[in-house]
Amino acid sequence: MAIITEIKDNKQAFMPLLLIGDEQESMIYRYLERCRLFALYDEGLKAVCAVTDEGEGILEIKNLAVAPGYQRRGYGRRMIEHICDIFRKDHILIQAGTGDSPETLPFYENCGFERAFSVKDFFTDNYDHPIFEGGKQLRDMIYLRRRL
Ligand SMILES: CC(C)(COP(=O)(O)OP(=O)(O)OC[C@H]1O[C@@H](n2cnc3c(N)ncnc32)[C@H](O)[C@@H]1OP(=O)(O)O)[C@@H](O)C(=O)NCCC(=O)NCCS
Repeated sequence: MAIITEIKDNKQAFMPLLLIGDEQESMIYRYLERCRLFALYDEGLKAVCAVTDEGEGILEIKNLAVAPGYQRRGYGRRMIEHICDIFRKDHILIQAGTGDSPETLPFYENCGFERAFSVKDFFTDNYDHPIFEGGKQLRDMIYLRRRL
C-alpha cells in the first residue's frame, strides 16, 4: 500500500529523484531549504514533491517527480491529491510552473490545472545549459493553476 510522508530532515538525500523533476542542482537548492517535501513510498520510494508557500494563499509545486519506470501508473496524481488535501485548509490555489512540454502539461491539465500565465525565457535565462523535453528546447515557464 502506498504511503505519503513529509520529509523534514536530510532533504538532500532525495536529490537523485528531485533531479528527475528539475535537472539542475543549483536550481533545486534555491527552494530545498524553505520547501515542504513529501515522499511517496510503495515498496520503495516512488515519488517526491516539493511545495512552497508563495503568500496570498498560493501554494506552488516546485518539483514533482515519479521514479523512471514507475511513471504513468497514477503516482503523480496521487501525490497531487494528497498535497491538495493537506493544504486546502489554509490555501486558496495551487500552482505549478513547467516547461512547454508534452510530457508535463497534459499531466497537470489531466489533474485539473488550467494554464494561467507564463514567464518568458525562464529556462534559457536561469539554467546553465539548454533543456530539452520531448525533443524540444524549453524556453518559457508555463504556470498552471487549480483552485483548492
Ligand atoms: C510528470 C509526472 C510527475 C507525472 O506523474 P505520473 O505518475 O507519470 O502521472 P499519472 O500516472 O499520475 O498521470 C495522471 C494522469 O495524467 C495523464 N498523463 C500523465 N502524463 C501524460 C502525458 N505525458 N501525456 C498525456 N497524459 C498524461 C495520465 O494518463 C493520467 O490520466 P488518467 O488518470 O486519465 O489515465 C511524471 O511522469 C514525472 O515524474 N516525469 C518526469 C519529471 C517531470 O517532468 N516532472 C514535472 C515537472 S515539476
